[in-house]
Formats: sequence, C-alpha cells, structure tokens
Amino acid sequence: MCSGRVEPRFILEALRAGADGVLVLGCHPGECHYLEGNYKAAARMALLKNVLAQFGVEEERVRLDWVSASEGVRFAGIVNRMTEAVRALGPFRPKEAAEAVGER
Ligand code: FES
Repeated sequence: MCSGRVEPRFILEALRAGADGVLVLGCHPGECHYLEGNYKAAARMALLKNVLAQFGVEEERVRLDWVSASEGVRFAGIVNRMTEAVRALGPFRPKEAAEAVGER
C-alpha cells in the first residue's frame, strides 16, 4: 500500500528468487498517504543500494521512483526505462557478482 512498507528484505528476496531487477514506486514526496512512508523508502533504498554495491550488484538493478495514480505516461516511462536498463545488464547472477567483488 505504501513504499514505506517495502522492507529491504523484500527486495533481497526478489533478487534471490530470480528477479533481474526490482522497481519500487511510491507517491511523490510530500504526498504519501501515510505521511512519511516515501521518505522512509528513500532512506532505506539508499542504504540498500550501498550494501548491494558492496556485493557487486549493479546500481541499475534496483530503483525507487515516484509516480501518482494519475500519471500513466510517467508510470509507463519509468517502467520502460527500468526494463531497458535491466535488459542491457542481462540476467542477474548473484554468484558471479559476489565473485567479481572477491577478485578486486
Ligand atoms: S502511500 Fe506512502 S508512498 Fe504512497
């Protein structure tokens, strides 16, 4: 119901289960129905991206953006850009990402 409800473990579970990328969409800043959920989501996402980078996960595989129910064109654009970015990266292979970090 709210981007603030998306716990980092949900994203990790999706990647572990085989997702090539995860897109989280929330209401625009200042428009969360639960007041601060999207701010919480933004803070969590920044931390999660930092952790994922440590494990060699490309930044483009996980994305947080804002869209309202009346912004169909914006929604489609965000989804299309995410799809293109993930497609360009190819399938997510967690073992290979971890190994690449180990080789540094
Ligand atoms: S209701 Fe919280 S981000 Fe939309």
